[in-house]
Amino acid sequence: MKTEHAPSIQRSDYTPLAWNVDGVDLHFALDPAATVVTSRLRCSRNTQIAPAPLRLLGEDLEVLGLTVDGVEAAPGLVTQGEGWLEIALEGRSAEVGIVTRINPQSNTSLSGLYVSRGGFFTQCEAEGFRRITWFPDRPDAMTRFTVTLEADAASCPVLLSNGNLIEQGPLAGGRHYARWEDPFPKPSYLFALVAAKLVALERRVTTASGREVLLQVWVEEGNLDRTEHAMDSLIHSMRWDEEVFGLELDLDRFMIVAVSDFNMGAMENKGLNIFNAKYVLAKPDTATDVDYEHIESVVAHEYFHNWTGNRVTCRDWFQLTLKEGLTVFRDQQFSADMLAVAAGDAGAASARAVKRIDDVRVLRAVQFAEDAGPMAHPIRPDSYQEINNFYTATVYEKGAEVIRMLHTLLGAEGFRNGMDLYFSYHDGQAVTCDDFVDCMAEANGHDLDQFMRWYSQAGTPHVKAAGAYDAASRSYTLMLSQHTPPTPGQTDKQPLLIPVAVGLIGPDGRDLPLRLEGENHAGVTTRVLELSEVEQSFRFLDVAVEPVPSVLRGFSAPVILDLAEDDARLAFRMAHDTDAFNRWDAAQRFAERVILVLTADAAAGRTLAVPADFVAAFRALLNDAALDPAFRAQAMTLPSEGYLIERMQPADPAPLRVALMHLMRALGTHLADDWLALCRTLEVTGPYRYHPTDAGRRALGNLALKYLAAAGVPEGLAWAQAQFARFGNMTEGVGALAALVQSASPAREAALGAFHARYRDDALVLDKWFALQAGAWRWDATAAPVLERVRALMVDPAFSLANPNKVYALLGSFFRANPAEFHAADGSGYAFWADQVIALDARNPQVAARMARSLENWQRFTPALQALIRVQLERVAGATGLSPDVTEIVEKALAD
Ligand code: TRP
Ligand code: ZN
Repeated sequence: MKTEHAPSIQRSDYTPLAWNVDGVDLHFALDPAATVVTSRLRCSRNTQIAPAPLRLLGEDLEVLGLTVDGVEAAPGLVTQGEGWLEIALEGRSAEVGIVTRINPQSNTSLSGLYVSRGGFFTQCEAEGFRRITWFPDRPDAMTRFTVTLEADAASCPVLLSNGNLIEQGPLAGGRHYARWEDPFPKPSYLFALVAAKLVALERRVTTASGREVLLQVWVEEGNLDRTEHAMDSLIHSMRWDEEVFGLELDLDRFMIVAVSDFNMGAMENKGLNIFNAKYVLAKPDTATDVDYEHIESVVAHEYFHNWTGNRVTCRDWFQLTLKEGLTVFRDQQFSADMLAVAAGDAGAASARAVKRIDDVRVLRAVQFAEDAGPMAHPIRPDSYQEINNFYTATVYEKGAEVIRMLHTLLGAEGFRNGMDLYFSYHDGQAVTCDDFVDCMAEANGHDLDQFMRWYSQAGTPHVKAAGAYDAASRSYTLMLSQHTPPTPGQTDKQPLLIPVAVGLIGPDGRDLPLRLEGENHAGVTTRVLELSEVEQSFRFLDVAVEPVPSVLRGFSAPVILDLAEDDARLAFRMAHDTDAFNRWDAAQRFAERVILVLTADAAAGRTLAVPADFVAAFRALLNDAALDPAFRAQAMTLPSEGYLIERMQPADPAPLRVALMHLMRALGTHLADDWLALCRTLEVTGPYRYHPTDAGRRALGNLALKYLAAAGVPEGLAWAQAQFARFGNMTEGVGALAALVQSASPAREAALGAFHARYRDDALVLDKWFALQAGAWRWDATAAPVLERVRALMVDPAFSLANPNKVYALLGSFFRANPAEFHAADGSGYAFWADQVIALDARNPQVAARMARSLENWQRFTPALQALIRVQLERVAGATGLSPDVTEIVEKALAD
């Protein structure tokens, strides 16, 4: 292992800029191997602080010229270090000219300017702009950009950048140019350019204030028939932000561009959002309901950033959750509203719960794991080595939960008032998380000092709840206590302000009206209790009968709830909890309990038996026709393996897999007739439409197939084969294929072959094919280990380590979604992991670091597995030329 540690950046080291850049003119002479970037920076001194040189940041740049006020910079004026350059400017203002040469074609990191399928694209967040030209590449340096692009007209007929197109025309030698001007000052991480052969779907719409704006979705020519849904999603997002937050599009033109090679989901560059093609392209034959859903929420997320992120941005990268947590919360609310509207009044509550369940599933499986491991950090971290490693589930998803708690505590109207104040104070500024919470506090006259601890304290709090009924006084006392376990570098945790939504259910299954001691407004059936101390009691009066408590309704805080409930009580809440989220949660808790007992039995070699009361409760939910299918699909889906691993001490993936297979088979067999009846009654006829009602039916139908196929029920397998043979949309196709792949049926290989033959030229659809195989369980005990299949797929012509989507589909699915195969007892999975992380790191550190993170929680596993993992972690840590990205991950994993 390396001995020198990467330097870490501290939040407390922030210093303001010595020089502002008031305007920048950029000229790009685009060429795949040698692009020349000419930059003119108009700088003015920040007179608020002591004089200091202009500090520019750069990486992998070849400087061809450097001038100050038009004359070549004297050597004595410039000091240079690793990744930085300082120019000792004089006076109050100066113009700095810099010419650099870069090689976009050899840029495999997909950060900065790079080439994808013959076109030029940029990705600048967080620190990619410094790979394009020397610049104060930090988010508080807000500048007005004018950009001129010059490129070959035949290969790059479309030239795009931020803002408004102000000029374009032909040039000599088959080249042409376009000039763009962005009227809004912005940090360099929001800069973007695209020069490629693309076509656009266009719409003109009118904003709330009556301005006409042009919307475009740019894609490769053959994909124009897959742009409709992204465009609809954009228009819905615009309307929603106008209605809910009074926020309007501020530009005359708004563009979305799809690109095949992209490290993450999408990027909110001002007026020119660049998307991973996976989050733009959809038609019924190639995209599933879940793809449609993701596209809608990612389009919304990037659009919402225009206000929460772009108009008001972050002072420094420690404040990342200021824009990300808030924007995730906004996109979650948007999706919930869209679902509720589509479901109509009667189905709205259930539709919202389904969305909430999806979000909480991810939070529990990914963020809770992160918070319990070596990378645990507060939503606003105090230090980092590589900022790219901090685009995490904590900053995004837990950050969104923190914003949601403010919304819960202040109410929708109070929250909106806080938002209005935030924009009135900070529009056009680069600010901090404190600035945001201060606005919420001021607008509501609410003290949020204690609440701020959510920003500084890492780790998932545990909330313990216990109730006692006193028949004599007809009162019910709920005792709540909180405890946050230590995390690396943070051992003494302070109590947090935790909103705990509570209801009391009577024996008839109906909610009791609640009256809290000391208050007289009775009548509500769900109350938000504010837990602010280590331990607190809440007494409810006029409680006629002993109730069953329903705690943390709607998942009102990102905590682990510890509430002692026996099986009968969980079954009761599964049947009766009026809070749909908690009804689902009761089913999850019951399933978790059953699975962990089965796992222990499997590990000890005992016979496995599924409790009859669990099967009965499960069957009752499955057949409750009053529940909408989407909700039932959520309730019948077992907790994820990743989540269950976090709940085991120590984690042992092999017996867990045995237990899960046993349970799936038992539920498939015992409930075979019920599942088959669902298959028959849920079929959706007519042409495909993306609609929550249809999507819910398809989800439950596909889940039924999964249980039936797992159990090897012949009619179920026949149904899956028939559905696969004649599927009319990708949701049905992939649903049937997934059921066959997750079975011992001999039809599985033929189906995989047929799917490949049909979609061999469709990269996005093939990603599903790769992912299904990498995530397959071994239902047929004689089958070869999945690692062998993964190795074989790596040499498939459709696979490439250069394309992040392919890496995530094949390697990501194997490392993350297939613990039992990845953690094979012989350590073969770990050696493979190390080989791939090292190979990826040489070309794309961001992608390599994401893959590296799949072993960070290695200390949860059995000692035998840990010993094998350690060897490979050390091998990666000792590899020569390792990036700061992967170095930080493996160093933290190995630190004690
Ligand atoms: N800010 C983007 C979002 O939340 C995500 C993002 C951050 C990103 N860094 C990136 C995207 C690097 C691609 C590459 O939507
Ligand atoms: Zn974002």
